[in-house]
Amino acid sequence: MEQEVYLDAPNLGPVEKEYLAKCVDSTFVSTVGPFVPEFEEKFAQYLGVRKAVAVQSGTAALHIALYALGIGQGDEVIVPSLTFIATVNPVLYVGAKPVIVDVDPNTWNIDPGEVEKAITPRTKAIMPVHLYGNPCNMDVLIEIAKKYNLYVIEDATESLGGVYKGKYTGTFGDIGCFSFNGNKLITTGGGGMIITDDPEKVQRIKFLVNQARDSAKGYYHPEMGFNYRMTNLEAALGLAQLSRLGEFLAQKRAFRRIYQEILGDLSCIRFQMEHEGTEGSYWLNCIRFIHDFDINELANKLTEKGIPTRKVFMPTGEMSYLKEYSKPCPQAFKIFDQGICLPSSTLNSINMLERAALTIRRVLVG
Ligand SMILES: Cc1ncc(COP(=O)(O)O)c(C=O)c1O
Repeated sequence: MEQEVYLDAPNLGPVEKEYLAKCVDSTFVSTVGPFVPEFEEKFAQYLGVRKAVAVQSGTAALHIALYALGIGQGDEVIVPSLTFIATVNPVLYVGAKPVIVDVDPNTWNIDPGEVEKAITPRTKAIMPVHLYGNPCNMDVLIEIAKKYNLYVIEDATESLGGVYKGKYTGTFGDIGCFSFNGNKLITTGGGGMIITDDPEKVQRIKFLVNQARDSAKGYYHPEMGFNYRMTNLEAALGLAQLSRLGEFLAQKRAFRRIYQEILGDLSCIRFQMEHEGTEGSYWLNCIRFIHDFDINELANKLTEKGIPTRKVFMPTGEMSYLKEYSKPCPQAFKIFDQGICLPSSTLNSINMLERAALTIRRVLVG
């Protein structure tokens, strides 16, 4: 029987087992333990930033980023239409208003022109998402943010290791947020990381994620806080995975080349376009059809051949509770309607991926 092709399954091995066993043997399985600070330190070192704070999820990272910047009631935050819902919900958690704007049809990322049009006196921040690992046009977004005095919170949850003009995604804004959910570049089971170069923000974030506890005074909490701390178990997995990130990125980039070599000449599809000088993380390799195409039928045919796929995110403004925050976003809608994510897990070998790409080609061209 032909070996299964993996869509986005995590890649776990002996180093992960060894570190997890250390947690169990030492009894340090909860939020206290040596792996948490070590993971934070190595993560910050990898990205070349001063500090990283480990948290429970990418969603928690985005929530605390907004909260720590003092964004709340009466404020507006500009977010892209085409993203996972977890980009938008944290804006509502802090009581601010998400302003959902359309994406660029080529890169699939937030359209800087649409961002500038959406700015009002109440706008406080822009939250660019490096969708599926493809770096946003950060030069232009940072320029807009400077011009209007806005914060930039990067949703880099899908783009760990992605590079834009020589710098890692997540390191451009005031705060960068990452996710270590099971299907991401590296996983901690579930977890996230907040990065910033500002030591004051780091202190504030550490305090907030630990129930806003003033430890010097015992159990004294001068304000409302959150329990968003990462556990030693999760950090053990994270540290082991981080040591393999280079290997994972090389594999993801090889997969991208294979898909481009095997499918790149088909005039009916397009890959996400990249800005000059960027190298994505290729968390997921995705394509879109340029004319109307029945994505569901394609997905079914590929499933029959043992090739799992996944739909592109539904534009966030399509959710009933978010409709009031979104103008029509035709580009995001077209990509949702005509796009599909292809197997990209690093559990796949080069041979498996080549076979999958050839099968996809046969299904497409007959
Ligand atoms: C674009 C985007 N933002 C935010 C998140 C939230 O991350 P998590 O699932 O770790 O909460 C994810 C991942 O799931 C995501 O893909």
